[in-house]
Amino acid sequence: MATVKFAGGDDVPLEMHKVRIVQKLNLPPIEARLEAASAAGNNTFLLRNKDVFMDMLTDSGVNAMSDQQLAAMMVADDSYAGSATYEKLEAKLREIFGLHWILPAHQGRACENILAQVLVTPGSIVPMNYHFTTTKAHIVLNGGAVEEIITDAGLEVTSDRPFKGDMDVAKLEGLVATHGADKIAFVRMEAGTNLIGGQPISLGNLVAVRAVCDRHGLLLVLDASLLADNLWFIKTRDPACRDLSIRDITRRIADLCDVIYFSARKLGCARGGGLCIRDEALYRRMRGLVPLYEGFLTYGGMSVREIEALTVGLDETMDEDMISQGPLFIAYMVDELVKRGVPVITPAGGLGCHIDVMRFLDHVPQSQYPAGALASALYIASGVRGMERGTLSEQRNPDGSEVYANMELLRLAMPRRVFTLSQVKYAIDRIDWLWRNRALVGGLEFVEEPEILRFFYGRLKPIGDWQEKLVAKFRADFGDSL
Ligand SMILES: Cc1ncc(COP(=O)(O)O)c(C=O)c1O
Repeated sequence: MATVKFAGGDDVPLEMHKVRIVQKLNLPPIEARLEAASAAGNNTFLLRNKDVFMDMLTDSGVNAMSDQQLAAMMVADDSYAGSATYEKLEAKLREIFGLHWILPAHQGRACENILAQVLVTPGSIVPMNYHFTTTKAHIVLNGGAVEEIITDAGLEVTSDRPFKGDMDVAKLEGLVATHGADKIAFVRMEAGTNLIGGQPISLGNLVAVRAVCDRHGLLLVLDASLLADNLWFIKTRDPACRDLSIRDITRRIADLCDVIYFSARKLGCARGGGLCIRDEALYRRMRGLVPLYEGFLTYGGMSVREIEALTVGLDETMDEDMISQGPLFIAYMVDELVKRGVPVITPAGGLGCHIDVMRFLDHVPQSQYPAGALASALYIASGVRGMERGTLSEQRNPDGSEVYANMELLRLAMPRRVFTLSQVKYAIDRIDWLWRNRALVGGLEFVEEPEILRFFYGRLKPIGDWQEKLVAKFRADFGDSL
Protein backbone atom coordinates (compact mmCIF):
# COMPACT_ATOMS: atom_id res chain seq x y z
CA MET A 1 0.00 0.00 0.00
CA ALA A 2 1.16 3.49 -0.72
CA THR A 3 -0.42 6.88 -0.26
CA VAL A 4 -0.20 8.96 -3.42
CA LYS A 5 -1.09 12.57 -4.06
CA PHE A 6 -3.81 13.06 -6.67
CA ALA A 7 -3.70 16.03 -9.02
CA GLY A 8 -6.60 17.55 -7.08
CA GLY A 9 -4.43 17.59 -3.94
CA ASP A 10 -5.99 14.66 -2.05
CA ASP A 11 -3.80 11.96 -0.48
CA VAL A 12 -5.30 8.62 -1.55
CA PRO A 13 -4.33 5.10 -0.44
CA LEU A 14 -3.31 3.04 -3.45
CA GLU A 15 -3.37 -0.77 -3.44
CA MET A 16 -0.01 -2.42 -4.14
CA HIS A 17 -1.68 -5.66 -5.14
CA LYS A 18 -4.22 -6.72 -7.72
CA VAL A 19 -7.26 -8.89 -7.12
CA ARG A 20 -7.15 -12.22 -8.95
CA ILE A 21 -9.78 -14.24 -7.12
CA VAL A 22 -13.15 -12.70 -6.34
CA GLN A 23 -16.23 -13.68 -4.40
CA LYS A 24 -19.64 -12.49 -5.54
CA LEU A 25 -21.42 -10.15 -3.15
CA ASN A 26 -25.09 -9.50 -2.66
CA LEU A 27 -26.67 -6.19 -1.66
CA PRO A 28 -30.34 -6.88 -0.93
CA PRO A 29 -32.77 -3.93 -1.10
CA ILE A 30 -33.40 -2.12 2.17
CA GLU A 31 -36.80 -3.77 2.74
CA ALA A 32 -35.10 -7.20 2.59
CA ARG A 33 -32.35 -5.92 4.91
CA LEU A 34 -34.99 -4.89 7.44
CA GLU A 35 -36.49 -8.37 7.24
CA ALA A 36 -33.07 -9.98 7.65
CA ALA A 37 -32.28 -7.78 10.68
CA SER A 38 -35.58 -8.79 12.31
CA ALA A 39 -34.99 -12.47 11.55
CA ALA A 40 -31.54 -12.16 13.17
CA GLY A 41 -33.03 -10.63 16.32
CA ASN A 42 -31.18 -7.39 15.49
CA ASN A 43 -27.95 -9.18 16.37
CA THR A 44 -25.35 -8.92 13.60
CA PHE A 45 -23.78 -12.22 14.71
CA LEU A 46 -27.02 -13.94 13.69
CA LEU A 47 -27.20 -12.51 10.16
CA ARG A 48 -26.63 -14.92 7.29
CA ASN A 49 -23.58 -13.95 5.29
CA LYS A 50 -25.58 -14.09 2.07
CA ASP A 51 -27.61 -11.11 3.35
CA VAL A 52 -24.47 -9.09 4.11
CA PHE A 53 -22.80 -6.76 1.60
CA MET A 54 -19.62 -5.68 3.45
CA ASP A 55 -18.74 -8.00 6.29
CA MET A 56 -16.95 -5.77 8.78
CA LEU A 57 -17.75 -7.98 11.78
CA THR A 58 -14.14 -9.07 12.32
CA ASP A 59 -10.67 -9.37 10.80
CA SER A 60 -10.27 -12.88 12.24
CA GLY A 61 -9.61 -15.60 9.68
CA VAL A 62 -11.09 -13.50 6.87
CA ASN A 63 -8.06 -11.63 5.53
CA ALA A 64 -7.23 -12.13 1.86
CA MET A 65 -4.41 -14.52 1.08
CA SER A 66 -1.72 -13.87 -1.50
CA ASP A 67 -1.06 -15.97 -4.60
CA GLN A 68 2.13 -17.19 -2.90
CA GLN A 69 0.16 -18.39 0.11
CA LEU A 70 -2.37 -20.23 -2.03
CA ALA A 71 0.42 -21.82 -4.07
CA ALA A 72 2.21 -22.98 -0.92
CA MET A 73 -0.98 -24.70 0.27
CA MET A 74 -0.76 -27.05 -2.71
CA VAL A 75 2.58 -28.53 -1.64
CA ALA A 76 1.87 -29.21 2.02
CA ASP A 77 3.41 -32.30 3.59
CA ASP A 78 0.41 -34.00 5.12
CA SER A 79 1.92 -36.21 7.79
CA TYR A 80 0.79 -36.50 11.38
CA ALA A 81 4.29 -36.46 12.79
CA GLY A 82 7.52 -34.97 11.49
CA SER A 83 5.87 -32.93 8.74
CA ALA A 84 8.28 -30.95 6.56
CA THR A 85 5.58 -28.27 6.41
CA TYR A 86 5.83 -27.76 10.15
CA GLU A 87 9.62 -27.55 9.97
CA LYS A 88 9.25 -24.63 7.55
CA LEU A 89 6.97 -22.82 10.01
CA GLU A 90 9.34 -23.44 12.89
CA ALA A 91 12.29 -22.12 10.86
CA LYS A 92 10.34 -19.01 9.79
CA LEU A 93 9.27 -18.18 13.34
CA ARG A 94 12.86 -18.59 14.55
CA GLU A 95 14.13 -16.42 11.72
CA ILE A 96 11.62 -13.61 12.38
CA PHE A 97 11.41 -13.58 16.18
CA GLY A 98 14.65 -15.26 17.21
CA LEU A 99 13.00 -17.28 20.00
CA HIS A 100 14.05 -20.88 19.66
CA TRP A 101 11.30 -23.01 21.18
CA ILE A 102 8.06 -23.21 19.19
CA LEU A 103 4.65 -24.76 19.91
CA PRO A 104 1.78 -24.82 17.40
CA ALA A 105 -1.88 -24.30 18.40
CA HIS A 106 -5.18 -24.20 16.55
CA GLN A 107 -5.79 -20.49 17.28
CA GLY A 108 -4.90 -17.64 19.63
CA ARG A 109 -7.12 -18.62 22.54
CA ALA A 110 -5.53 -22.10 22.54
CA CYS A 111 -2.16 -20.43 23.24
CA GLU A 112 -3.85 -18.53 26.06
CA ASN A 113 -5.17 -21.77 27.49
CA ILE A 114 -1.65 -23.23 27.55
CA LEU A 115 -0.11 -20.07 29.03
CA ALA A 116 -2.76 -19.79 31.72
CA GLN A 117 -2.70 -23.46 32.68
CA VAL A 118 1.07 -23.43 33.10
CA LEU A 119 1.66 -19.99 34.61
CA VAL A 120 -1.51 -18.86 36.39
CA THR A 121 -2.15 -20.15 39.91
CA PRO A 122 -5.11 -19.35 42.21
CA GLY A 123 -4.65 -15.85 43.65
CA SER A 124 -2.05 -14.79 41.11
CA ILE A 125 -2.41 -11.67 38.98
CA VAL A 126 -1.55 -10.86 35.38
CA PRO A 127 -0.84 -7.18 34.74
CA MET A 128 -1.53 -6.17 31.15
CA ASN A 129 -2.00 -3.04 29.09
CA TYR A 130 -5.58 -4.15 28.32
CA HIS A 131 -7.45 -7.42 28.34
CA PHE A 132 -8.81 -9.36 25.41
CA THR A 133 -11.99 -11.37 26.07
CA THR A 134 -10.50 -14.86 25.63
CA THR A 135 -7.27 -13.97 27.45
CA LYS A 136 -9.13 -12.81 30.53
CA ALA A 137 -11.43 -15.83 30.48
CA HIS A 138 -8.50 -18.28 30.59
CA ILE A 139 -6.71 -16.39 33.36
CA VAL A 140 -9.88 -16.21 35.49
CA LEU A 141 -10.66 -19.88 34.80
CA ASN A 142 -7.30 -20.79 36.34
CA GLY A 143 -7.96 -18.73 39.48
CA GLY A 144 -6.00 -15.64 38.47
CA ALA A 145 -7.04 -12.02 38.07
CA VAL A 146 -6.35 -9.48 35.35
CA GLU A 147 -4.98 -6.03 36.24
CA GLU A 148 -5.42 -3.54 33.41
CA ILE A 149 -2.83 -0.83 33.64
CA ILE A 150 -3.09 0.98 30.35
CA THR A 151 -2.01 4.65 30.53
CA ASP A 152 -4.92 7.02 31.21
CA ALA A 153 -4.48 8.38 27.67
CA GLY A 154 -5.40 4.96 26.31
CA LEU A 155 -9.02 5.41 27.29
CA GLU A 156 -9.42 8.89 25.80
CA VAL A 157 -11.81 8.40 22.90
CA THR A 158 -10.50 11.27 20.80
CA SER A 159 -6.84 11.99 20.98
CA ASP A 160 -3.78 12.55 18.84
CA ARG A 161 -1.50 10.37 20.96
CA PRO A 162 0.34 7.92 18.68
CA PHE A 163 0.63 4.98 21.13
CA LYS A 164 -2.56 4.69 23.16
CA GLY A 165 -1.89 0.99 23.83
CA ASP A 166 1.08 1.72 26.14
CA MET A 167 1.24 0.32 29.67
CA ASP A 168 1.55 2.64 32.67
CA VAL A 169 4.96 1.54 33.93
CA ALA A 170 4.55 3.27 37.31
CA LYS A 171 1.36 1.27 37.87
CA LEU A 172 3.26 -1.91 37.06
CA GLU A 173 5.85 -1.02 39.73
CA GLY A 174 2.92 -0.26 42.05
CA LEU A 175 1.41 -3.71 41.50
CA VAL A 176 4.74 -5.37 42.27
CA ALA A 177 5.05 -3.30 45.46
CA THR A 178 1.49 -4.13 46.56
CA HIS A 179 1.29 -7.82 45.70
CA GLY A 180 4.93 -8.93 45.55
CA ALA A 181 6.64 -10.26 42.44
CA ASP A 182 5.84 -13.88 43.33
CA LYS A 183 2.10 -13.20 42.95
CA ILE A 184 2.58 -12.00 39.37
CA ALA A 185 2.12 -14.92 36.98
CA PHE A 186 3.47 -12.92 34.03
CA VAL A 187 3.23 -9.49 32.49
CA ARG A 188 1.24 -9.38 29.26
CA MET A 189 1.56 -6.75 26.56
CA GLU A 190 -0.95 -6.83 23.72
CA ALA A 191 0.25 -5.37 20.42
CA GLY A 192 -2.42 -3.39 18.53
CA THR A 193 -4.69 -3.39 21.59
CA ASN A 194 -7.93 -4.88 20.28
CA LEU A 195 -10.67 -3.71 22.64
CA ILE A 196 -9.64 -0.07 22.77
CA GLY A 197 -9.72 0.43 19.02
CA GLY A 198 -6.64 -1.39 17.70
CA GLN A 199 -4.30 1.12 19.36
CA PRO A 200 -0.56 0.37 19.17
CA ILE A 201 2.12 0.02 21.82
CA SER A 202 5.47 1.78 21.40
CA LEU A 203 8.88 0.17 21.35
CA GLY A 204 10.00 2.58 24.08
CA ASN A 205 7.17 1.44 26.36
CA LEU A 206 8.09 -2.19 25.82
CA VAL A 207 11.71 -1.37 26.75
CA ALA A 208 10.49 0.28 29.97
CA VAL A 209 8.20 -2.65 30.82
CA ARG A 210 11.10 -5.06 30.21
CA ALA A 211 13.26 -3.08 32.63
CA VAL A 212 10.62 -3.52 35.37
CA CYS A 213 10.39 -7.23 34.57
CA ASP A 214 14.18 -7.54 34.82
CA ARG A 215 14.26 -5.73 38.16
CA HIS A 216 11.73 -8.14 39.66
CA GLY A 217 12.38 -11.36 37.73
CA LEU A 218 9.03 -11.29 35.88
CA LEU A 219 8.16 -13.02 32.61
CA LEU A 220 7.16 -10.74 29.74
CA VAL A 221 4.61 -12.22 27.33
CA LEU A 222 3.62 -10.49 24.09
CA ASP A 223 0.28 -11.14 22.42
CA ALA A 224 1.35 -10.58 18.83
CA SER A 225 -2.02 -11.30 17.20
CA LEU A 226 -2.29 -7.70 15.99
CA LEU A 227 1.45 -7.17 15.60
CA ALA A 228 1.33 -6.45 11.85
CA ASP A 229 -0.61 -3.19 12.31
CA ASN A 230 1.52 -2.30 15.33
CA LEU A 231 4.74 -2.71 13.34
CA TRP A 232 3.47 -0.23 10.79
CA PHE A 233 2.55 2.28 13.48
CA ILE A 234 5.98 2.01 15.11
CA LYS A 235 7.65 2.51 11.73
CA THR A 236 5.55 5.56 10.83
CA ARG A 237 4.79 7.18 14.19
CA ASP A 238 8.06 6.77 16.12
CA PRO A 239 10.74 9.04 14.60
CA ALA A 240 13.45 6.86 16.21
CA CYS A 241 12.26 3.87 14.15
CA ARG A 242 11.65 5.55 10.80
CA ASP A 243 14.88 4.23 9.29
CA LEU A 244 14.53 0.70 10.63
CA SER A 245 13.19 -2.09 8.46
CA ILE A 246 10.06 -3.96 9.57
CA ARG A 247 12.28 -6.97 10.23
CA ASP A 248 14.56 -4.91 12.48
CA ILE A 249 11.62 -3.50 14.43
CA THR A 250 10.16 -6.98 14.82
CA ARG A 251 13.45 -8.31 16.15
CA ARG A 252 13.85 -5.40 18.58
CA ILE A 253 10.40 -6.16 19.96
CA ALA A 254 11.02 -9.90 20.12
CA ASP A 255 14.37 -9.47 21.87
CA LEU A 256 12.50 -7.93 24.81
CA CYS A 257 10.05 -10.82 25.25
CA ASP A 258 10.19 -14.17 27.00
CA VAL A 259 7.16 -15.55 25.18
CA ILE A 260 5.40 -14.39 22.00
CA TYR A 261 2.07 -15.92 21.09
CA PHE A 262 -0.32 -15.12 18.28
CA SER A 263 -3.56 -15.87 16.53
CA ALA A 264 -2.68 -16.70 12.92
CA ARG A 265 -6.27 -15.82 12.04
CA LYS A 266 -4.83 -12.30 12.20
CA LEU A 267 -1.04 -12.43 12.09
CA GLY A 268 0.03 -14.12 8.87
CA CYS A 269 -3.42 -14.04 7.19
CA ALA A 270 -4.15 -17.76 7.69
CA ARG A 271 -5.88 -19.77 10.43
CA GLY A 272 -4.02 -21.16 13.42
CA GLY A 273 -1.72 -19.96 16.15
CA GLY A 274 1.51 -20.55 17.98
CA LEU A 275 3.82 -19.83 20.90
CA CYS A 276 7.48 -18.85 20.63
CA ILE A 277 9.34 -19.40 23.90
CA ARG A 278 12.81 -18.31 24.94
CA ASP A 279 13.43 -20.71 27.79
CA GLU A 280 13.67 -24.45 27.20
CA ALA A 281 12.43 -25.34 30.69
CA LEU A 282 9.26 -23.27 30.20
CA TYR A 283 8.77 -24.82 26.75
CA ARG A 284 8.95 -28.28 28.33
CA ARG A 285 6.31 -27.33 30.90
CA MET A 286 3.98 -26.14 28.14
CA ARG A 287 4.69 -28.85 25.62
CA GLY A 288 2.56 -31.57 27.21
CA LEU A 289 -0.60 -29.51 26.76
CA VAL A 290 -0.26 -29.37 22.98
CA PRO A 291 -0.97 -33.08 22.29
CA LEU A 292 -3.65 -32.94 24.99
CA TYR A 293 -5.67 -30.00 23.63
CA GLU A 294 -4.40 -29.26 20.12
CA GLY A 295 -2.82 -32.18 18.30
CA PHE A 296 0.63 -33.59 17.78
CA LEU A 297 3.60 -31.23 18.15
CA THR A 298 4.07 -30.92 14.39
CA TYR A 299 0.60 -29.59 13.57
CA GLY A 300 -1.06 -28.41 16.80
CA GLY A 301 -4.61 -28.59 15.47
CA MET A 302 -3.83 -26.70 12.25
CA SER A 303 -4.26 -28.19 8.81
CA VAL A 304 -0.88 -28.50 7.09
CA ARG A 305 -2.23 -26.36 4.25
CA GLU A 306 -2.87 -23.53 6.69
CA ILE A 307 0.62 -24.01 8.13
CA GLU A 308 2.14 -23.56 4.66
CA ALA A 309 0.01 -20.43 4.13
CA LEU A 310 0.99 -19.12 7.54
CA THR A 311 4.72 -19.56 6.90
CA VAL A 312 4.45 -17.51 3.72
CA GLY A 313 2.08 -15.04 5.40
CA LEU A 314 4.56 -14.42 8.22
CA ASP A 315 7.28 -13.70 5.70
CA GLU A 316 4.96 -11.32 3.82
CA THR A 317 4.22 -9.56 7.12
CA MET A 318 7.76 -8.21 6.91
CA ASP A 319 6.73 -6.30 3.76
CA GLU A 320 5.67 -2.68 4.34
CA ASP A 321 3.31 -2.70 1.35
CA MET A 322 1.47 -5.62 2.87
CA ILE A 323 1.12 -4.46 6.46
CA SER A 324 0.26 -0.86 5.61
CA GLN A 325 -2.91 -1.77 3.72
CA GLY A 326 -5.12 -2.18 6.79
CA PRO A 327 -3.93 0.91 8.70
CA LEU A 328 -4.07 3.15 5.60
CA PHE A 329 -7.60 2.11 4.65
CA ILE A 330 -8.71 2.52 8.26
CA ALA A 331 -7.05 5.95 8.45
CA TYR A 332 -8.83 6.94 5.23
CA MET A 333 -12.18 5.87 6.65
CA VAL A 334 -11.59 7.56 10.02
CA ASP A 335 -10.40 10.81 8.39
CA GLU A 336 -13.37 10.96 6.04
CA LEU A 337 -15.81 10.33 8.90
CA VAL A 338 -14.12 12.98 11.05
CA LYS A 339 -14.45 15.47 8.15
CA ARG A 340 -18.20 14.77 8.18
CA GLY A 341 -18.41 15.27 11.95
CA VAL A 342 -19.09 11.59 12.72
CA PRO A 343 -17.71 10.68 16.18
CA VAL A 344 -15.02 7.98 15.91
CA ILE A 345 -12.04 6.81 17.97
CA THR A 346 -8.92 8.78 17.09
CA PRO A 347 -6.21 8.51 16.13
CA ALA A 348 -7.07 5.77 13.66
CA GLY A 349 -5.75 2.43 14.91
CA GLY A 350 -5.42 -1.00 13.33
CA LEU A 351 -8.11 -3.65 13.08
CA GLY A 352 -10.95 -1.34 12.07
CA CYS A 353 -12.82 1.91 12.41
CA HIS A 354 -14.61 2.38 15.73
CA ILE A 355 -17.68 4.62 15.99
CA ASP A 356 -18.21 6.32 19.34
CA VAL A 357 -21.88 5.54 19.86
CA MET A 358 -22.17 7.46 23.16
CA ARG A 359 -21.92 10.58 21.01
CA PHE A 360 -23.52 9.21 17.83
CA LEU A 361 -26.74 8.20 19.62
CA ASP A 362 -26.59 10.42 22.68
CA HIS A 363 -30.40 10.24 22.94
CA VAL A 364 -30.42 6.43 23.42
CA PRO A 365 -29.70 5.39 27.05
CA GLN A 366 -27.22 2.60 27.74
CA SER A 367 -30.09 0.49 29.07
CA GLN A 368 -31.35 0.35 25.47
CA TYR A 369 -28.04 -0.86 24.00
CA PRO A 370 -27.15 2.05 21.72
CA ALA A 371 -24.17 0.31 20.09
CA GLY A 372 -26.33 -2.70 19.27
CA ALA A 373 -29.02 -0.39 17.92
CA LEU A 374 -26.51 1.40 15.69
CA ALA A 375 -25.14 -1.93 14.43
CA SER A 376 -28.66 -2.91 13.44
CA ALA A 377 -29.43 0.50 11.92
CA LEU A 378 -26.21 0.47 9.87
CA TYR A 379 -26.96 -2.98 8.54
CA ILE A 380 -30.47 -1.87 7.52
CA ALA A 381 -29.17 1.34 5.93
CA SER A 382 -26.27 -0.27 4.03
CA GLY A 383 -25.89 -4.04 4.31
CA VAL A 384 -22.64 -3.37 6.23
CA ARG A 385 -22.20 -5.71 9.17
CA GLY A 386 -20.30 -4.36 12.20
CA MET A 387 -19.87 -5.64 15.75
CA GLU A 388 -21.37 -4.18 18.91
CA ARG A 389 -18.71 -3.50 21.53
CA GLY A 390 -20.61 -1.93 24.41
CA THR A 391 -23.11 -2.81 27.13
CA LEU A 392 -24.61 -5.67 25.13
CA SER A 393 -21.16 -7.35 25.18
CA GLU A 394 -21.04 -7.12 28.99
CA GLN A 395 -22.36 -9.71 31.41
CA ARG A 396 -25.10 -8.75 33.91
CA ASN A 397 -24.27 -8.55 37.66
CA PRO A 398 -25.33 -11.56 39.75
CA ASP A 399 -28.37 -9.52 40.97
CA GLY A 400 -29.50 -9.09 37.35
CA SER A 401 -28.59 -5.42 37.03
CA GLU A 402 -26.79 -4.22 33.92
CA VAL A 403 -23.06 -3.54 33.78
CA TYR A 404 -22.79 -0.41 31.66
CA ALA A 405 -19.71 -0.44 29.42
CA ASN A 406 -17.06 2.32 29.67
CA MET A 407 -17.36 2.85 25.95
CA GLU A 408 -20.23 2.15 23.55
CA LEU A 409 -18.53 1.28 20.27
CA LEU A 410 -19.60 0.02 16.89
CA ARG A 411 -16.55 -1.74 15.48
CA LEU A 412 -16.21 -1.87 11.73
CA ALA A 413 -13.33 -4.26 11.11
CA MET A 414 -11.25 -3.90 7.96
CA PRO A 415 -10.20 -7.40 6.88
CA ARG A 416 -6.83 -6.97 5.16
CA ARG A 417 -6.79 -6.63 1.34
CA VAL A 418 -10.47 -7.64 1.14
CA PHE A 419 -12.32 -4.42 0.26
CA THR A 420 -11.77 -1.89 -2.50
CA LEU A 421 -11.67 1.83 -1.83
CA SER A 422 -15.05 2.33 -3.52
CA GLN A 423 -16.59 -0.15 -1.09
CA VAL A 424 -15.04 1.76 1.80
CA LYS A 425 -16.43 4.99 0.32
CA TYR A 426 -19.86 3.37 0.18
CA ALA A 427 -19.65 2.48 3.89
CA ILE A 428 -18.56 6.04 4.71
CA ASP A 429 -21.47 7.49 2.74
CA ARG A 430 -24.09 5.34 4.46
CA ILE A 431 -22.62 6.04 7.93
CA ASP A 432 -22.70 9.75 7.10
CA TRP A 433 -26.35 9.44 6.04
CA LEU A 434 -27.19 7.65 9.30
CA TRP A 435 -25.36 10.35 11.25
CA ARG A 436 -27.52 13.01 9.62
CA ASN A 437 -30.62 10.93 10.39
CA ARG A 438 -29.50 9.76 13.81
CA ALA A 439 -32.56 11.21 15.54
CA LEU A 440 -34.59 8.48 13.81
CA VAL A 441 -32.62 5.66 15.46
CA GLY A 442 -34.04 4.30 18.71
CA GLY A 443 -33.05 1.62 21.21
CA LEU A 444 -33.38 -2.15 21.49
CA GLU A 445 -34.72 -4.52 24.14
CA PHE A 446 -34.10 -8.22 24.64
CA VAL A 447 -36.67 -10.78 23.60
CA GLU A 448 -34.29 -13.68 24.32
CA GLU A 449 -31.30 -13.12 26.58
CA PRO A 450 -28.81 -15.99 27.10
CA GLU A 451 -27.06 -16.02 30.47
CA ILE A 452 -23.58 -16.43 29.05
CA LEU A 453 -22.04 -14.45 26.19
CA ARG A 454 -25.40 -12.92 25.35
CA PHE A 455 -23.93 -10.79 22.58
CA PHE A 456 -23.21 -13.86 20.46
CA TYR A 457 -26.73 -15.21 20.19
CA GLY A 458 -29.16 -13.02 22.14
CA ARG A 459 -32.19 -11.71 20.23
CA LEU A 460 -33.56 -8.18 20.48
CA LYS A 461 -36.37 -6.06 19.07
CA PRO A 462 -36.57 -2.35 18.37
CA ILE A 463 -38.32 -0.16 20.92
CA GLY A 464 -41.04 1.46 18.81
CA ASP A 465 -41.22 1.62 15.01
CA TRP A 466 -37.97 3.48 14.35
CA GLN A 467 -36.71 0.90 11.87
CA GLU A 468 -39.74 1.33 9.56
CA LYS A 469 -39.26 5.12 9.76
CA LEU A 470 -35.59 4.68 8.86
CA VAL A 471 -36.53 2.63 5.80
CA ALA A 472 -39.10 5.23 4.72
CA LYS A 473 -36.51 8.03 5.03
CA PHE A 474 -33.98 5.97 3.04
CA ARG A 475 -36.49 5.54 0.21
CA ALA A 476 -37.36 9.25 0.30
CA ASP A 477 -33.66 10.19 0.07
CA PHE A 478 -32.28 7.49 -2.25
CA GLY A 479 -35.30 6.59 -4.43
CA ASP A 480 -34.99 3.04 -5.71
CA SER A 481 -31.20 2.83 -5.16
CA LEU A 482 -29.90 -0.21 -3.29
C1 LIG B 1 -5.35 -9.55 20.68
C2 LIG B 1 -5.99 -10.88 20.53
N1 LIG B 1 -5.56 -11.90 21.28
C3 LIG B 1 -6.10 -13.13 21.17
C4 LIG B 1 -7.13 -13.38 20.28
C5 LIG B 1 -7.73 -14.77 20.22
O1 LIG B 1 -7.39 -15.35 19.02
P1 LIG B 1 -8.33 -16.46 18.30
O2 LIG B 1 -9.58 -15.76 17.87
O3 LIG B 1 -7.51 -16.98 17.17
O4 LIG B 1 -8.61 -17.50 19.32
C6 LIG B 1 -7.59 -12.36 19.47
C7 LIG B 1 -8.69 -12.59 18.54
O5 LIG B 1 -9.39 -11.72 18.11
C8 LIG B 1 -7.01 -11.07 19.61
O6 LIG B 1 -7.41 -10.02 18.85
